[in-house]
Amino acid sequence: METRSSGVRHMCALTLLLVSVCPLCCKASWMWLGVTSAGAPEQLSCGDPVLSARQRELCRRKPFLLPSVRDGAQLAVSECQNQFRQERWNCSTSREPTAVFGHELTSGTKETAFIYAVMAAGLVHSVTRSCSQGNMTECGCDARLRGGGTAPEGWHWGGCSDHIQFGTWFSRKFMDNSVKNMSTSRGGYTLSTMNQHNSGAGRQAIERTMSTDCRCHGISGSCAVKTCWRSMAPFKRVGAYLKERYEQSVQVSDRSRRKMRKKDRRRPVDKHQLIYLNKSPNYCLEDRRRGIAGTRGRRCNRTSTGPDGCNLLCCGRGYNTHVVRNIQRCECKFVWCCYVHCRRCESMNDMHTCK
Ligand SMILES: *[C@@H]1O[C@H](CO)[C@@H](O)[C@H](O)[C@H]1NC(C)=O
Ligand SMILES: *[C@@H]1O[C@H](CO)[C@@H](O)[C@H](O)[C@H]1NC(C)=O
Ligand SMILES: *[C@@H]1O[C@H](CO)[C@@H](O)[C@H](O)[C@H]1NC(C)=O
Ligand SMILES: *[C@@H]1O[C@H](CO)[C@@H](O)[C@H](O)[C@H]1NC(C)=O
Repeated sequence: METRSSGVRHMCALTLLLVSVCPLCCKASWMWLGVTSAGAPEQLSCGDPVLSARQRELCRRKPFLLPSVRDGAQLAVSECQNQFRQERWNCSTSREPTAVFGHELTSGTKETAFIYAVMAAGLVHSVTRSCSQGNMTECGCDARLRGGGTAPEGWHWGGCSDHIQFGTWFSRKFMDNSVKNMSTSRGGYTLSTMNQHNSGAGRQAIERTMSTDCRCHGISGSCAVKTCWRSMAPFKRVGAYLKERYEQSVQVSDRSRRKMRKKDRRRPVDKHQLIYLNKSPNYCLEDRRRGIAGTRGRRCNRTSTGPDGCNLLCCGRGYNTHVVRNIQRCECKFVWCCYVHCRRCESMNDMHTCK
């Protein structure tokens, strides 16, 4: 693993060399930190070529945040793959630092929107977690709440409330590549303002999914006094929330298009909504040029009517059925003391894959 990851690093350096010769090619992205298993902390550095010049500078000012950047990226990539595991586009990633999510990172589609939102949310989540665990000098628990609350009602704020402001600030600083005015006075969006909007929506998702947790005190759990604190939702919940936003995302007009329909201009978009510029392809067939894997060979469910059903997933091309042998431990018995004895059971199951 060690040599493989350093091999990938070298490949990355080589690719970047090529990219600098030919700047029109795709750029490496920090999101790649969420893909690679080259995660040994000592290998992380602010000079990492996947960071942009601006990110490197921010990193040098706050190097202690770099592990959180990697953790946040990994959290976001794996949640993206979890949310889309049954869809035609399954959030697959590439080991190539300049590819990461392939074409979907720049296609301006709903998928681009989800990627930016989940990555921004991942950063907030991991930085905040680190703050709450007391690993940072720059941030900690949310002190504004502590001591407040309503004692007469029998509860008060206490414990450690997650302080998401610092993580939110950092996520914005790290991801939004310009502090340029996001004003859309001319109407319409560019890919960069679209990304900026969606990463903002991702950060909002953290705030919107936060909850208040309480613990009871008092004689034998009478709950005469309660201590409450605010905490972030597990990242899975944030992912599910964003997936819903993805389903309901709205198309906005592209500023660079000459013909912009009048009614598209200045249609206000809620800051929690995900927005996109371009319609998505159907992701049915392999298209190497656009980095689309297609669904051939994907496992589907014959009885499901959801996106993982063979009909939808295979785009009507049909499916192959294979019989697979499963061997499991079964009829386990506890034997005094202290063994568990199991038998090996064999079963034959049908597996379907798209043609
Ligand atoms: C996504 O699907 C492709 C086949 O289309 C498969 O090779 C890949 O492993 C899948 N990725 C994930 C993350 O499930
Ligand atoms: C905080 O620091 C401890 C000890 O160094 C480490 O085990 C833990 O993973 C860190 N937590 C985060 C969220 O970085
Ligand atoms: C951003 O736009 C607003 C209104 O469109 C304007 O008032 C403000 O001065 C602009 N800020 C910058 C930094 O250009
Ligand atoms: C297939 O889909 C059905 C209906 O949604 C579900 O009950 C079943 O567990 C699924 N099978 C597998 C192997 O996922």
